[in-house]
Amino acid sequence: MAQKDKIKWDNKYKELPKLLEKRDPCEKLVKYINKVSKGKALDVACGSGRNTIYMAGNGFKVDALDISSVALENLSKLENPNINTLLVDLDEYTFQENFYNLITKTNFLDRDIIEKIKKALKKDGIIIIETYMEDENNEKKDSNPDYLLKKDELKSFFTDGFEILDYDEFFNETNELYRMKKQSIVVKKL
Ligand SMILES: C[S@@+](CC[C@H](N)C(=O)[O-])C[C@H]1O[C@@H](n2cnc3c(N)ncnc32)[C@H](O)[C@@H]1O
Repeated sequence: MAQKDKIKWDNKYKELPKLLEKRDPCEKLVKYINKVSKGKALDVACGSGRNTIYMAGNGFKVDALDISSVALENLSKLENPNINTLLVDLDEYTFQENFYNLITKTNFLDRDIIEKIKKALKKDGIIIIETYMEDENNEKKDSNPDYLLKKDELKSFFTDGFEILDYDEFFNETNELYRMKKQSIVVKKL
């Protein structure tokens, strides 16, 4: 387990419990959830579980993955039978292939995982990715550039075997800690 990441995130959630309060799901998830067959869903680095809870409420059986036990314990309190929380280090986790109908990965960037979740998705399934990107007007100036997407970058992961249903670059909603530019993509596996 990436012990450093686990300690960092557990401490962050303990110090800022409002990060685990009920929050709206990603808007693209709300827009596209009815375009995919109900079945199994995966929320990568689920955090508060805002997307997990929304998918479970819409009839999906959701695997909610995160390295923070503080975040997962908070989500487990809901005792929702459609939510399966899994404490994992995504750097080492092996995903089941051709398994999920719907996958979300929001506000978390690890480029290697994109290739893995492409394989974890079933044919006709949908992946939704949304996270921060470079922009001179970003409020948080000390972001690690490795965790910021370049302009148009998400499209470059889906040149083959996927249809791009939606691509967007925009400034985030005001309920986040900093005003930051984000990039999102919604793709369907062919
Ligand atoms: C900014 S939060 C995003 C939460 C959620 N996806 C959302 O959009 O609200 C990033 C999450 O990534 C998790 N994380 C960081 N490194 C991880 C790793 N190596 N394996 C699993 N989860 C990790 C953190 O614990 C944290 O909950």
